[in-house]
Amino acid sequence: MVAPLEQQTLTARMRELKQLRNAVILAHNYQTGDLQDVADFVGDSLGLAYKARDTEADVILFCGVHFMAETAKIVNPTKTVLLPSLEAGCSLADSCDAAALAKWRAENPDAVVVAYINCTAAVKAQTDIICTSGNAVKVVNSIPKDKRILFVPDQNLGQWVMSQTGRELILWPGACHVHVLFTHKAIFQLKQQHPNAKIVAHPECVPAVRMLADEVCSTEKMVNYCRTSSATEFIIVTEAGMLHRLHKEVPGKRFIAGPTDTCNCNECPFMKMNTLENAVAALENLSPEITLDETIRRQALIPIERMLAIGR
Ligand code: 13P
Ligand code: SF4
Repeated sequence: MVAPLEQQTLTARMRELKQLRNAVILAHNYQTGDLQDVADFVGDSLGLAYKARDTEADVILFCGVHFMAETAKIVNPTKTVLLPSLEAGCSLADSCDAAALAKWRAENPDAVVVAYINCTAAVKAQTDIICTSGNAVKVVNSIPKDKRILFVPDQNLGQWVMSQTGRELILWPGACHVHVLFTHKAIFQLKQQHPNAKIVAHPECVPAVRMLADEVCSTEKMVNYCRTSSATEFIIVTEAGMLHRLHKEVPGKRFIAGPTDTCNCNECPFMKMNTLENAVAALENLSPEITLDETIRRQALIPIERMLAIGR
């Protein structure tokens, strides 16, 4: 986060540029507070995909990671989609390469391929349906029971979906390098200090962490869970940016960032590559812009549209 005075100047410039460019600012829940505060919409991957599809603005300034901005371009190709830092990738998306998936798919021609939205456009283009953490259970339940399912790229989300649906999924061995840092030991110790706190964990966490959780859900559902719960204290086991939105939208309750073995919170270095400065610069320069091969975009749109039709 930038210093308060600088933040005021940058925020004011951002508002001017937003008008000038006829832009909408979409931000993921893991972005820094100053970016969340300047955004028109803050949400999870699924909410952001709907907002990107439905916007009538000319420019989408996407404050999130590359696969999310790519999804925005896939669903709304006539818009200029900007990502403040093109380096804002995702270790989970990087774990699944399109050529390797093509090979796996060819070895399992009868299977349905379900991909978590945290993957590249080239990977999406080779799948049957996309899901997010917000609708993965619903998406898997929509597939006929007699069908074998290949699930890419997050094995932790895949295992959680298996536990919720009773379906057997064949898992790609990918994982999020941020969420796997949360450990059973660290979360258990924190819970001892806060026995009344509810533990809320993202499904990208490992099973030993998820088993401690009172609720496992997407970042968007975390807001609703904490708002409607009778509890007043929560341990939030996901990227620490989430706490900004929780403090803002669920006032009067206490939120404690989930710790790792070495740190009392956990940040995604890719998400944090976007800053208020480079977001303003992106809108000023209309760059860096997301561009896609049109054949891949059209192929990737099909499984995304199937998911969007299913909803949350
Ligand atoms: P959500 O869709 O739940 O916000 O998750 C996105 C993500 O990248 C989690 O690491
Ligand atoms: Fe990717 Fe993990 Fe960062 Fe989410 S938290 S964007 S899955 S690296």
